[in-house]
Amino acid sequence: MILVLSSSLHPDSRSRILARACVEKLESLGETTELFDLSQTKLPACDGATAYGDPNVVALSKLIGAADAVLIASPVYNYDVNAAAKNAVELTGKAWTGKVVGMMLAAGGQGSYMSAMGLANSLMLDFRCHIVPRFIYATGESFEGNDLADESIQDRVDTLVTETLHLSTAIKEG
Ligand SMILES: Cc1cc2nc3c(=O)[nH]c(=O)nc-3n(C[C@H](O)[C@H](O)[C@H](O)COP(=O)(O)O)c2cc1C
Repeated sequence: MILVLSSSLHPDSRSRILARACVEKLESLGETTELFDLSQTKLPACDGATAYGDPNVVALSKLIGAADAVLIASPVYNYDVNAAAKNAVELTGKAWTGKVVGMMLAAGGQGSYMSAMGLANSLMLDFRCHIVPRFIYATGESFEGNDLADESIQDRVDTLVTETLHLSTAIKEG
């Protein structure tokens, strides 16, 4: 199963469009997929204590634990992923151990293209995740209303999905 985690809390999120496009591509390839949308399923703020017992946190931890790979879709906020994405990782910690993780970011401008690296470093160093060495960084021109704007961004979604599956299969069989 491939888990797609969408972290934007914005009602008209662009990174959520990327997340959905990934789900569609995965399904077209016959993959079992779960979409966990933080705008729909609320998580408490991580307090390092009782928040771990929240039923939504437990459900997300189980999904991450069961996933062959996780694709994270996030907004770029202040040259990083948003706080909701970071909070989700704080809450689910060790469930990430050894996971293949791909990332897709929606941003306001071109300049913040290294914004995935903080989360990538933390997942590698804390949980020995295998970060897919290709990510999507998309700005406004890649979107048209609630859809991807053109073939170019669709190709990038397809490539992220196929490379994530490739890495996850190689690691499983290795
Ligand atoms: C609090 C905040 C911080 C932001 N920081 C950045 C930034 O550092 N770099 C950037 O390119 N865009 C930044 N943006 C623009 C968002 O990345 C952009 O609106 C993106 O579409 C948000 O993703 P979403 O549509 O999935 O919610 C910021 C927006 C907000 C609200």
